[in-house]
Amino acid sequence: MSKSNIRPLGYNAYMKNKPIGIFDSGVGGLTVAAQIMEKLPNENIIYFGDTARFPYGTKSATELIEYTFQIVKFLREQDVKLAVIACNSASSAALEKAQEHFEIPILGVVEPGARAAVLASINRHIGAIGTETTIKSDAYKKAIHMFDAGAQVFSATCPSFASFVENGHIEGDYIYEMAEKYLTPLKKQEVDSLILGCTHYPLLSDIIQKVMGTEVKLINSAEETALEVREVLERKDQLRKDGKSSYRFISTGDSSKFHKLGTRFLGREIKQVETVKLDVEH
Ligand code: DGL
Repeated sequence: MSKSNIRPLGYNAYMKNKPIGIFDSGVGGLTVAAQIMEKLPNENIIYFGDTARFPYGTKSATELIEYTFQIVKFLREQDVKLAVIACNSASSAALEKAQEHFEIPILGVVEPGARAAVLASINRHIGAIGTETTIKSDAYKKAIHMFDAGAQVFSATCPSFASFVENGHIEGDYIYEMAEKYLTPLKKQEVDSLILGCTHYPLLSDIIQKVMGTEVKLINSAEETALEVREVLERKDQLRKDGKSSYRFISTGDSSKFHKLGTRFLGREIKQVETVKLDVEH
């Protein structure tokens, strides 16, 4: 390490007060933000929801890399100390490229969920559900094999789940039947741990658990990611351990819709939503 890269005195104290940046295609990533707020109660947070371009789950890897770069660049300008790609689809497509390009630490949601699933599994039959983009990328399979090369991975897309949740439908016979249709192939493979590989799925965990059976361990990537954020900051000695936290919420689309929906995903009141227009191509 060259001399100019060595941390000057007071550097960590200065870093601690910088915010954590979190982004997603919309309000779904607030499930990740909620876990970070719970597990790191003194951290300042900037949450960015790219609602104008929701959903990400059907976009190509090239598009998601472009969106991720724009948003991380924006968060970087807000002086964040670390960025979290809270969206599984964007993490699958763009995490590596973003880590290569930007100098701040960037975490995704795929590896933390994969690791937890490997740790939890006894029979080494692991399930992963997510959007089309996430499942097609094989990101979960690769990440699971990083932690256990011999695990058997069974994946399924659940194409309608995210939009149902986004519109507030999280229970009822119709959703149950849909869950049965999506999950039965995984049940047949006797998976004993199942990764909820989409920001929206933790809101359906009751139904998913009912369909899969109580013996299957559901892995909430949101919670695992929050634990990883805490570990990273702790190891870097940049964890903010006291002081009141402040939160900013930013959306690229309709801020009142974000406000209404976001409160449900976050599980706490959102005071104000700022609107930002990125230089976007639709
Ligand atoms: N946030 C997305 C994910 O976790 C789900 C919603 C979308 O398609 O944008 O993959």
